[in-house]
Amino acid sequence: MNVLLLGASGRIGQRTATELLDRGHAVTGVSRSGTVEGLDDDEFVAVTGDATDSDDVAKLATGHDAVVSTLGPSDDESPEILTEMMDAVIAGLRRAAVDRLVWTGGAGGLKVGPETMLIETDDFPEEWEPVARAAIDAYDILSEAEDLTWTYLAPAAVIEPGERTGEYRTAERELVTNDEGDSYISMADFAIALVDELEAENAIYAYLGTGN
Ligand SMILES: NC(=O)c1ccc[n+]([C@@H]2O[C@H](COP(=O)([O-])OP(=O)(O)OC[C@H]3O[C@@H](n4cnc5c(N)ncnc54)[C@H](OP(=O)(O)O)[C@@H]3O)[C@@H](O)[C@H]2O)c1
Repeated sequence: MNVLLLGASGRIGQRTATELLDRGHAVTGVSRSGTVEGLDDDEFVAVTGDATDSDDVAKLATGHDAVVSTLGPSDDESPEILTEMMDAVIAGLRRAAVDRLVWTGGAGGLKVGPETMLIETDDFPEEWEPVARAAIDAYDILSEAEDLTWTYLAPAAVIEPGERTGEYRTAERELVTNDEGDSYISMADFAIALVDELEAENAIYAYLGTGN
């Protein structure tokens, strides 16, 4: 597949680029800086682009089979920029006639009980609330895009550099936890999950939680 990867220079983005390339996909990696450290592969090109600008997204997406997002707000930006990115990416894909989008979301909107989202629990760290809310708002926008074949994949509550084990679980709209009740996934295993979703023959329109 010829894949446009938005946020390729980020922590999850770099690992996703590596996973895509290892599986034989061609990758155009987008960030505002236009540079991705440590990736030297004939099938990879790093380019500059702004994911809040639908014209940029439309130009960049043209000719690709699918778009994967590992976009995240910078420390100096309001997390609400995530909804601007979602709006611009959806508009850009429509103009570029690309209909497959796999988006890295947030765990805050996943359910931990029949009526309770992770973000609503007492233990949820206050400092993560703004970005978790923005990720839920971005999901709400994506869920209306019925003309796109989209998947919104959330990491576990904790995602860290960690080992690539090749094993992970997913659950629809639910936080995935292990026997000890911890919700964890390594970035390398999350990248596997993202690419598995991209390659899945029957793409699902779903908000999926992941975890080891
Ligand atoms: N447990 C959880 O739910 C959880 C935990 C961690 C992360 N996440 C989510 O996963 C996503 C990725 O996380 P991460 O840690 O890999 O983020 P990161 O390291 O900060 O990477 C973000 C990437 O997005 C790019 N970017 C930001 N604004 C852009 C724009 N306007 N146009 C183009 N590229 C832009 C950055 O490059 P430039 O700055 O050069 O543009 C960078 O490549 C985020 O949405 C984050 O919220 C969720």
